[in-house]
Amino acid sequence: MTDAITSSGEDLPFPAGFTWGAATAAYQIEGAATAGGRGPSVWDTFSHTPGKVRGGDTGDIACDSYHRYVEDADLIKSLGLSAYRFSISWPRILPSGEGGKGAVNQAGLDYYKRLLDALAERGIRPSVTLFHWDTPQALQDKGGWASRDTALRFAEYVSVVGEALGDRVPTWVTLNEPHVVAHNGHRIGVHAPGLTDDAVAAAVTHHLLLGHGLAAGALRAVTPAGTEVGITLSLTPVRLGSDAPEDLQHAARVTDASFNGLFLDPLLYGRYPAHALPEVLPPAGLIRDGDLAAISAPLDFLGVNYYRPVHLRRGDPARLLLGEAPALPGLDGVVQFDPAELEHTNMGWLIDPEGLYELLLRLSKDAPGLPLYITENGCGAEDYFGTDGVVNDLERIKYLHQHLRAAARAVNDGANLAGYFVWSLLDNFEWAWGYQKRFGIVYVDFATQNRTPKASAGFYAGVARANAVPPLPAEWPV
Ligand code: FCB
Repeated sequence: MTDAITSSGEDLPFPAGFTWGAATAAYQIEGAATAGGRGPSVWDTFSHTPGKVRGGDTGDIACDSYHRYVEDADLIKSLGLSAYRFSISWPRILPSGEGGKGAVNQAGLDYYKRLLDALAERGIRPSVTLFHWDTPQALQDKGGWASRDTALRFAEYVSVVGEALGDRVPTWVTLNEPHVVAHNGHRIGVHAPGLTDDAVAAAVTHHLLLGHGLAAGALRAVTPAGTEVGITLSLTPVRLGSDAPEDLQHAARVTDASFNGLFLDPLLYGRYPAHALPEVLPPAGLIRDGDLAAISAPLDFLGVNYYRPVHLRRGDPARLLLGEAPALPGLDGVVQFDPAELEHTNMGWLIDPEGLYELLLRLSKDAPGLPLYITENGCGAEDYFGTDGVVNDLERIKYLHQHLRAAARAVNDGANLAGYFVWSLLDNFEWAWGYQKRFGIVYVDFATQNRTPKASAGFYAGVARANAVPPLPAEWPV
């Protein structure tokens, strides 16, 4: 399989009109946590709780993009990108999370209007995410996404934003990665709000999806015809050797249903997947008449965040070998493993571009005709300035190059891919890792807020300009 991505000696083209963008999220870049009337979110609370984020880092200042958005818009333009995916901070718009008379923080809306105008002046198309994890703390205090009411409050907030900004925004993403919110935030507790409760995580899963469905309906009611509405999922292809026996095929079905089907099936088919682990499935008592119809209303596109797959093989979860991890509970005699021939990023994440290729083809088969956008893909690395004053982030170039080759091959083989957004435009607050992990194609010096495009920014700008990805080098420099 690796041969397929290393052997070709030609540029691989992308379709005409392909979108080339970069992505960020509000809490990771804006800073200005208490400026302009913003209320606290669960991430303010979490990051200010000792021991939750590496180094005690918070998003209080982050990249200060709230004040430096013009410079950031200039950066995007200087790279020749056609699109920018950013998120709106819910508590900047509704500081208490709820709408109603006098609740809207006009200064928050005005900030996003200024940002959208700055993008429009530079010919950059916005793709706006409405929820990238910053639930208003005031709503968390009332139960957060474990409570059905939060889905209704989310739709209320989305309709405020849609009405105010709808004339400036062609593309909306309702939610970013509901799986990560439910799992990391409510099952294993490594993200805000830091809960560790399977039942809560299952309820959160349903309420996030319901929030998506209601928000999509709210947007369609208040935004101009032709506005695109979609959702972004973190998808984790499950990979097996081609001669995998039936017990591994079964393990793969359960794992795929628990990670991916749990979100894809209700969105695409209006039902939860039969094969998922019982403990991740929302209990029937939570699902009211009409919920699944709202959740499965047609999407204009699906946003795909791809970082890494999981590989399964036979093994003993009680005696893990090096490079192995336990598979999901109940899958006897099966382990996850990292194939020895594949490298890792400095997040410890496996680098496996074939996973992206498989995923894009599978989605195009499961949802024929539905446009796909890669809304995030990228690499955390140890970046620093060389003596020549350049950030020569070869690992990131290699990662992007390999994944863009995989994406181009998928398009060539029939995947319905409309665009690619690199994660991320800027080094930023990487959630529980704080500022220790750098994902940007632009280096941020957090002491001075100076921004410097890395070598990967040049590489990526070249791909965008050519609308094609060059052949992989026969050998990478060391
Ligand atoms: C994704 C998140 C994004 C960023 C990347 C590295 O799960 O959506 O905000 O942190 O991971």
